Amino acid sequence: MMKPVIRDYQFRDYDMCRALWKELTERHREIYNDPSIGGDDPGQGFEAYLANPKRRASWVVEIQGQIVALAGLVVNGDEGEIEPVIVSSRYRSRGIGTMLVRHVVEEARCMHVGYVSVRPVARNKEAISFFVRLGFDLLGQVELFRDFSGAPRSKWESGISVHGHKLGY
Ligand SMILES: CC(C)(COP(=O)(O)OP(=O)(O)OC[C@H]1O[C@@H](n2cnc3c(N)ncnc32)[C@H](O)[C@@H]1OP(=O)(O)O)[C@@H](O)C(=O)NCCC(=O)NCCS
Repeated sequence: MMKPVIRDYQFRDYDMCRALWKELTERHREIYNDPSIGGDDPGQGFEAYLANPKRRASWVVEIQGQIVALAGLVVNGDEGEIEPVIVSSRYRSRGIGTMLVRHVVEEARCMHVGYVSVRPVARNKEAISFFVRLGFDLLGQVELFRDFSGAPRSKWESGISVHGHKLGY
């Protein structure tokens, strides 16, 4: 395999990055077994992401002219949030995500943010393990919510607890 190269996102990467965003939505659909996540067009969140005024930078990983991963940094005060991190499914488990996140963390450090965070959904165990391994071992905010969608409680998995409170996730 040719060596992966990390570089800044450019407008010509738009279509390939939108396709990666679609893969992220599809991953969430799969995790929650819910094909309605992301609406009719699973790539449309990408436009909103690009338009976010707090988006500071985005990077891609390119292999032989193909964009195989996307990551970005959104800065809010002295906190940098890594959003998104997506490696195309065919290219996962080869160290590309690790290389990309390390790069983003270094860039955030150069911007003198006080913290760098990431917010995977609680059910994304693979991503949580990935980030903990990369040193993200402090827990910030906890988002609690109630489900008024009419879905049965069995939609939510059990087996996680915070400060002794058993929660669905
Ligand atoms: C989470 C995600 C970004 C990780 O990217 P990745 O490129 O697969 O990550 P890495 O390859 O660096 O590391 C993942 C695994 O590969 C292994 N690995 C790392 N480097 C490797 C290498 N050079 N060769 C083989 N395996 C390697 C790691 O040990 C790890 O294995 P484990 O999870 O079984 O412990 C990717 O799975 C993804 O895009 N998921 C879907 C989108 C998503 O959920 N994003 C996070 C939302 S916040």
